[in-house]
Amino acid sequence: MEKLTIIGGVPLIGELAVQGAKNSSLPLLAAAMLVKGKTVLHNCPDLTDVDAACKILSYLGCRIRREGSTVEIDASRVDRYDVPDDLMREMRSSIVFLGAIAARMNAAQISFPGGCELGPRPIDLHLMGLRQLGLRIKEGYGLLDCELRSKRFVGSRISFSFPSVGATENVIIAAATALGRTVITNAAQEPEIVALAEFLNQCGAKIYGAGESTIVIEGVPVLSETEFRVIPDRIVAVTYLCAAAATGGEVLLTDVLTDQLDSVFPVLDQMGCKLRITDRSVYLKAPLRLKAVKPIRTMPYPGFPTDAQAPVMTVTALASGTSMFVENVFENRYKHVSELVRMGANIKVEGKVAVVEGVNSLYGASVESTDLRGGAALVIAGLAASGTTTISNLYHIDRGYERIEQNLAGLGGRIHREA
Ligand code: EPZ
Repeated sequence: MEKLTIIGGVPLIGELAVQGAKNSSLPLLAAAMLVKGKTVLHNCPDLTDVDAACKILSYLGCRIRREGSTVEIDASRVDRYDVPDDLMREMRSSIVFLGAIAARMNAAQISFPGGCELGPRPIDLHLMGLRQLGLRIKEGYGLLDCELRSKRFVGSRISFSFPSVGATENVIIAAATALGRTVITNAAQEPEIVALAEFLNQCGAKIYGAGESTIVIEGVPVLSETEFRVIPDRIVAVTYLCAAAATGGEVLLTDVLTDQLDSVFPVLDQMGCKLRITDRSVYLKAPLRLKAVKPIRTMPYPGFPTDAQAPVMTVTALASGTSMFVENVFENRYKHVSELVRMGANIKVEGKVAVVEGVNSLYGASVESTDLRGGAALVIAGLAASGTTTISNLYHIDRGYERIEQNLAGLGGRIHREA
């Protein structure tokens, strides 16, 4: 089993361009099914989740061509509407294909996406929204057997009890070519929603208000070919900033849409980091001693992102003073804590709350990655710790971080992957 071996204690110094966003490329790949022709996505990150999404598209009949970070999806012919269990299980977020398959094929058959490390990951909001648009969904035996009541989705008013990112994406994709108008209230406002709407509008869709809590979609019969550049990954950007902060380093990140990180920069500033921010770059210089931060509550965008909780927690574990996190988005997103404690962190979890007492140093240990962002938190801890850390279960990390060991070694980190 592959492991990362990290010899900690070296400040990260240098410059890095941030990869394309995993959580934007996945819905874009699904939405490409709506175009009876070619879609070209640039700046697609080289990740196992993107590989899994391409496998699903190929299985359904699309022709995929990848050249570096450019992915061409030819969806001229789609001849299947079922996604086999093994493909569904490869990527938990494959539920985002449901609306796209049903819109294209008038039917869809997918297995119930399993839970994941963050908790059961219910899909009730996805199903509610798609049912409102006219999708008949039979649930049973771990399968979702779906068919459209009429030839196309039919526009409707949909109000989400929680601004679910995936459910908002599914409804936008299904409504783009529906008959009539769809209004989504309490929609997710993440940048990835805005990017999806921009992509679909470039294809001829009529989507208004993406990024706000009410989105209006006037369905159109046909969408046309386009090329689109995937936005940079804001969470990967935060991760590398945290690595520099935790190791006492200084980095310049380029290709970052810094206005998407307005809720994170003040936290890094409170910790004593020096930041220089432009539209598309951020320079961070770590302080000699990190300071604890005021309570961090994770919230839907534009609040503090839940995906940044684990990487930032590692930095606070090394700060002088007590910091506190309240994880409001997922019910089980502290699995990395026990592994950080093995490395000498002083963190106590009580339900949604984690209290972090900063320590002077972390110590290298052999730890297991528990989920995508928890794994990234352990990498940061290993880079900051004194001694050697080995991290296993790298498949979690490889889902979301492109060339993580090469990028960190390029900044001076002593890290390599062993088979
Ligand atoms: C997306 O997941 C991201 N994944 C997650 O990133 C991210 O943490 C999350 O949004 C929140 O920002 C992708 O985009 C592929 P949600 P998603 O639906 O769509 C509950 C990462 O590390 N919920 O907004 O699954 C759910 O249980 C990953 O890159 C329902 O109850 O997030 C959770 O508690 C992790 N019913 C909360 O809403 C539903 O039908 C947020 O989920 C759907 C969700």
